Amino acid sequence: MTPRSTVTSNPDKSRSLTAGPGTIQPAPDTSTTNWMYEGQFPGPELRVQEGDVLSVELTNDLQEETTIHWHGIPVPNPVDGVPNVTQDPIAPGDTFTYTFRAEPAGTYFYHSHVGLQLDRGLLGPLIVEEREPHVEYDREYVVVLDDYLPGDPRPPSDGGRGGSGRGGGMGGGGMMGDVRPPYEGLLINGRLPENPPTFDVTEGERVRFRFVNAASATVFGVRIAGHEMTVTHTDGQPVNPVDVDSFVFGAGERYDAVVEAENPGRWFIQADALDGNEPSARAVVEYESAGGSGAPQSPSSPSNRLQYGDLRAISSLDGVSGSPDRTFDLTLSRGGGQSYTWTIDGQAYPDADPLQIRPGEHVRIRMTNQSPVVHPMHLHGHFFRVGNAIKDTVMVPGHRGRVTLDFHADNPGRWLFHCHNLYHLDAGMARVVKYVE
Ligand code: C2O
Ligand code: CU
Repeated sequence: MTPRSTVTSNPDKSRSLTAGPGTIQPAPDTSTTNWMYEGQFPGPELRVQEGDVLSVELTNDLQEETTIHWHGIPVPNPVDGVPNVTQDPIAPGDTFTYTFRAEPAGTYFYHSHVGLQLDRGLLGPLIVEEREPHVEYDREYVVVLDDYLPGDPRPPSDGGRGGSGRGGGMGGGGMMGDVRPPYEGLLINGRLPENPPTFDVTEGERVRFRFVNAASATVFGVRIAGHEMTVTHTDGQPVNPVDVDSFVFGAGERYDAVVEAENPGRWFIQADALDGNEPSARAVVEYESAGGSGAPQSPSSPSNRLQYGDLRAISSLDGVSGSPDRTFDLTLSRGGGQSYTWTIDGQAYPDADPLQIRPGEHVRIRMTNQSPVVHPMHLHGHFFRVGNAIKDTVMVPGHRGRVTLDFHADNPGRWLFHCHNLYHLDAGMARVVKYVE
């Protein structure tokens, strides 16, 4: 067992990030005040080599407390960025420095872990490059998907049970169903579909796309017109390449896919909200030879969608073979009563018992979803095995969907395990996984 220790060596890369308010312009005639890092939305791409020590000094120019979480990277516990669990939140005007070794390689993102700040725009991509990629490619693009909420995110205030859409500006939701924030669109790299980003390609190239679902409450279905995608990584971790025409991913998940550029023209990348009716998020893949003219083509309906069962990790996860040392059976459900709560085994965080584990254990978590909506469940500080894949976030389907994950308790501390739908997290769907001796 090799717990991640606090890094003392000099950083290979140092960055400073300031979190503060600013104006974004997701389309030419649309602008709103957002909160963001370095005045950019999404925040600046952080890119390092596998194994590099990364140091980020965060300055809080907001009027409220904040933190950064390095989603997916098993960092040492004190720099995991969970307020009141791994650190005191950073007060307005203060700074805090996060230093950790960036490994393993993969596609990650960073985001605020305070309240609903993620849905105000405090997010950005974090790429840890492989020293030796298991797939070949000639160029790459990072594709950050998000739901667009102008203004202040709010928890549903009417309990979401009325179905009337009153209160808190949230759309209506049926009994035991869910409410969706009043999103005004879907974004790729911070842009609405009327203002899509363009990804230039040259015929014959292999193009790696790193898709990040940085949304707060959206499950996306992703397609590229005119091209097959070869999925090569899930949540940053390499898998045996699998050819699909589409995939679906929940908030917090990532997929890398390589596309062979052998069909000249202009083509849309399209991402649809599975549970919303906003127009699809779009980007354009444009061949040099296409000369920027002609309307891009839209994808046809998906016929070969990626399933979790298709994912086979290239390497195995240590410490999770055989039968587990400890098993938790957890029910995911909507809380009873008038207030808007989401629970794990009937408890709403922070009024919830920690899941206690011991160092070195093989831990299994079995989840059953007793609600009608999907929950993308994320574990901090560890990767887990689910089926034959290694991931850090996994969707548990609604209507009694079941998912089992296994992880090795190799990173002592207190780690959040929660739904990555921000509104579910905020309403209690979280537990602390706590190491005890
Ligand atoms: Cu990306 Cu606890 O979160
Ligand atoms: Cu959820």
